Amino acid sequence: MDVIEELASLRVVPVVTIEDPGQAVAVAEALAAGGLPAAEVTFRTDAAVEAIARIAEALPDFLVGAGTVLNPDMARRAVEAGARFVVAPGYDPGTVAWCQYHDVPVIPGVDTPSEVMAAKAQGLTVLKLFPASVLGGPTFLKALSGPFSDVRFMCTGGVRPSNEAEYLSQPNVLCVGGTWLTPADALAEGDWARVSQLCREAKAAGL
Ligand code: 3PG
Repeated sequence: MDVIEELASLRVVPVVTIEDPGQAVAVAEALAAGGLPAAEVTFRTDAAVEAIARIAEALPDFLVGAGTVLNPDMARRAVEAGARFVVAPGYDPGTVAWCQYHDVPVIPGVDTPSEVMAAKAQGLTVLKLFPASVLGGPTFLKALSGPFSDVRFMCTGGVRPSNEAEYLSQPNVLCVGGTWLTPADALAEGDWARVSQLCREAKAAGL
């Protein structure tokens, strides 16, 4: 299965910010134990590269990707560490081009029909809708489905257990993602059982 189809079959992709790379493998194991063996590890901390490297080395079956990738250099560092896909909050043609040249699946963020058109012109049909809830959530997705019937979206930003199913019921939603599966306090306390439980609940809601 290719990476995009793996994300589609998971339906829910944990977005994880790791402060301590020593925790990275434990977090990934907790996600996998809850039925979600994938994560977008965000470049919002200095620990991101090492966290990705540790997960990739320890858990080869775990689908680790990089998030908050803002430029080609960050994409390169993520991929060299072992990231198997790249996600960005916005649309940067240079980052997309770098990933395409290196055959790395890339999912840039879009907010407007114009950005969808620019991304399509660069050959992409899977895009991140971010911040999905601010943009109008499922209503915006319905509006986009008319002109862009071939585009599928990874929706993040404000997706929660209360609205997850509504997003996933939209035919143009590839998957949803979010930080709610790895709350900062659970990570600080090393409460892996809670992380796994949140994953189980999210998976059940997404079926
Ligand atoms: C992301 O990078 O995709 C978002 O920060 C996730 O948004 P959330 O915190 O609302 O889940």
